[in-house]
Amino acid sequence: MILIKLGGSIITNKEKPLSARKKTINNLAKNLKKINEPIIIVHGGGSYGHYWSVKYDMHTKEKKYDLRGVAIVKNSMIELNKIILDSLLKNKLNPYCLPPTDFMSGNKPILKKVKEIEKIAKIGLIPVTYGDALWYGQKKTYILSGDKIMTHLAKILKPRLSIFALNEDGLYSDLKSKKLICELKNEHPLISENKMDVTGGMTRKVEEASNISKMGMNVFFVNGNKPERIVKAIKNNKFEGTLFRGKRNV
Ligand code: IPE
Repeated sequence: MILIKLGGSIITNKEKPLSARKKTINNLAKNLKKINEPIIIVHGGGSYGHYWSVKYDMHTKEKKYDLRGVAIVKNSMIELNKIILDSLLKNKLNPYCLPPTDFMSGNKPILKKVKEIEKIAKIGLIPVTYGDALWYGQKKTYILSGDKIMTHLAKILKPRLSIFALNEDGLYSDLKSKKLICELKNEHPLISENKMDVTGGMTRKVEEASNISKMGMNVFFVNGNKPERIVKAIKNNKFEGTLFRGKRNV
């Protein structure tokens, strides 16, 4: 079982509101078709969900956010999700659309539902879920990031590998020279603050990747513009990006 997060920065043009990078998405789908192993896809919000959550000042903290914002964020995520599903279908894959409300209750994953996702993946469908605005309870809502979903799913399903497709080659030890960190063994890298979005941008991704690798599983940050690197990582154990080695694999 492989978990793949398609980051908002790779599937959308973050500089331009409501613009999907359709060619990149297609190229990703084409390469995912080459994988003969159960996969689950999680995607981010990029210039769809993030754009609106910033406008309506919505964050990961559970609060009484503007209901209009909740409705609009949700609607925009459906729109982006549809673009991803269409692309997968066009490339002869069989996506199974799973809004996070299907397996989340408040801020907790529903064990039985998450285990069902694995069964769906194992028969050859590709479960596709995404970060979204969610009902929390007591009149509150919150933004659930796709990165957080990765941790929830990894914890329960113990994937062989969790992949984060980014708009960069991986993690850099130095942002200026773009020196790539190839491998991390049980370390939590210190990263300089970058431009933040509502769910914390790169900081959040590193946080969730560390969480997953601490549970013993490998996590791989890869450039989504080079989707053949995703295939190589899965098929040949060749990691051209940043590999967070899980404890049990060090
Ligand atoms: C986006 O999820 C959630 C919303 C803002 C609706 P992510 O936080 O995982 O999105 P990206 O990948 O960083 O864009």
